[in-house]
Amino acid sequence: MTLKEEKDWLTSVSTRQGTPQNLALGVELKRGNRLIGSVGLHALDWVHRRGMSGSFIGPPTMRGRGYGTEAKILLLDHAFRDLGLESIWSYVIRDNDASIRALKKQGYRQGGVFRHAVLVSSQWKDCLYFDIVREDWQRICGSKAASGIPR
Ligand SMILES: CC(C)(COP(=O)(O)OP(=O)(O)OC[C@H]1O[C@@H](n2cnc3c(N)ncnc32)[C@H](O)[C@@H]1OP(=O)(O)O)[C@@H](O)C(=O)NCCC(=O)NCCS
Repeated sequence: MTLKEEKDWLTSVSTRQGTPQNLALGVELKRGNRLIGSVGLHALDWVHRRGMSGSFIGPPTMRGRGYGTEAKILLLDHAFRDLGLESIWSYVIRDNDASIRALKKQGYRQGGVFRHAVLVSSQWKDCLYFDIVREDWQRICGSKAASGIPR
C-alpha cells in the first residue's frame, strides 16, 4: 500500500456510518502514550458473527516483547465478550514464524493451507489459516466470555 492509500483507508474506517465492517484500534504504550502498532477486526459478518483479526507492531525493537499478544488478548476479549462474536479467523504467510507462534500462544488453532495465496517479491507464498471460536476462548478465560449475548 502507498502512504496515501493507508491514510485514506484509516479515514474511511473512522468515519463510515452504519454497521461497521472494520474495527481498527491503536496499540499505545501505557507510559508516554506512544503509538507502536494496531490490532483490528475486519470483514465483520454480523449475521454469522465472525470476523478476521489482524495485528501489527511497527518498530522492530518493539516486537517480541509481548505487546502484540497483550493487545490481541484484549481484542479477543472485546470481540467475544462485548461484541458477541462467535469465531475469529486469521491467516499468515507460512514463513512468518513470529506471527504463527503468537497466534498459537493466543489460543488460535491451525486449519488448512491456502496455497500460493500471496505474491511476495515475485514469489508465490502459501498462507496458513487459523481460527479461534467462543468455546476456545471460554476454556482459556473461564466464565468471562460465557454469555455470547452482546452487552
Ligand atoms: C506478529 C506480531 C504482531 C507479534 O507481536 P509481538 O509483540 O512481536 O509478539 P509477542 O512478543 O507477543 O510474542 C508472541 C510469541 O511470538 C514469538 N516471537 C516473537 N517474535 C518472534 C520471531 N521473530 N521469531 C519467532 N518467534 C517470535 C515470541 O517468542 C512469543 O512466543 P513465546 O512467548 O512462546 O516465546 C509482530 O511481531 C509484528 O507486527 N510483526 C510484523 C507484522 C506481521 O507479521 N503481522 C502479522 C501478519 S499475519
